[in-house]
Amino acid sequence: MEEIKELDGIEEQLDKELENVDDLNKLQQTKANFLGKKGPLAQVMANMRNLTIEAKKELGMKSNQIRKNLEDKIESKRQEIEDLIISKKLESEKIDVTLPGVKFNVGSIHPLNQTIMDLEDLYISMGYTVATGPEIETDEYCFEKLNLPKGHPARDMQDTFYINPELLLRSQTSPVQVRKMLEEEGKPIKIICPGKVYRRDSDDATHSHQFMQCEGLVLGKDITLSDLKGALLEMAHKMFGEDRNIRLRPSFFPFTEPSVEVDVSCGICGGKGCPTCKGSGWIEVLGAGMVNDNVLRMSGYDPQKIQGFAFGMGVERITMLKYKIDDIRNFYLNDVRFLDQFKEVK
Ligand code: DAH
Repeated sequence: MEEIKELDGIEEQLDKELENVDDLNKLQQTKANFLGKKGPLAQVMANMRNLTIEAKKELGMKSNQIRKNLEDKIESKRQEIEDLIISKKLESEKIDVTLPGVKFNVGSIHPLNQTIMDLEDLYISMGYTVATGPEIETDEYCFEKLNLPKGHPARDMQDTFYINPELLLRSQTSPVQVRKMLEEEGKPIKIICPGKVYRRDSDDATHSHQFMQCEGLVLGKDITLSDLKGALLEMAHKMFGEDRNIRLRPSFFPFTEPSVEVDVSCGICGGKGCPTCKGSGWIEVLGAGMVNDNVLRMSGYDPQKIQGFAFGMGVERITMLKYKIDDIRNFYLNDVRFLDQFKEVK
């Protein structure tokens, strides 16, 4: 049959053409050429009208077979091209996991902040809250309401930076006590106040014109000196270890009566006496006492109804003792070789 002859060789022709097809656009074009409305198959079918039924049947079967073969060839070519695209993509996006990574310089928590965080953790766990106050303070709150009137000789203990006769850079965190008492108007208080303080000192290994303190104040009914001792013993255990002990020595602060100096047993010799503790077995860490009646009265508290204790510690001092740091200036030089050493500590 004439028509069938026309279809002979069409598969080979497609094979040949597919050899040059290497992308999906070209494949689409080729598919249209062979299987589209103007393609050879369609032409043959269009001429079927004049054929006998027998011949139509034969031609129909034959052309269906050919159409299927052509479609299969095109489909397998499509698969081949798509596989190639994927493997090219995989090749170009390959990650070499053996290459060295990009190193980030991760900082660490500053040891002073670590100490403050440790103190906050401890005291919050004992029911305290954290209070703060301004670093530019009034003479009234920093001294007068703490029982240090103008001209009081105990003011000499703290060389203060004055901005004018009434304003100063706070030389201690104790004014936060005053602020809190005025705010609470006679109600019980349980706070710690960490923060920066300033003194007109010449910087050396143990002095810095700016340093940090952490103040504590507990006011309530029947608060005693033994409560103070308990609060500070917990601190010594948390900061220096469970094996440490503390002792209270009589001292003087205008805002407390009685006042004490608090020592922690020496961690180097265990209390026997060594060069670090100058043979005494004890190291001084902070000042404390029972809040002076005058201080209570001046901020609206009745000492007959409510009393309590206060303490104030140097954050640098605690940190230096804890990590055996011998020069306070290390905290403020920002030398990464110093700071790096605290990456692992906790
Ligand atoms: N403010 C004192 C100082 O800077 C430390 C201190 C001592 C604070 C006794 C207190 C305290 O609250 O009760 O030297």
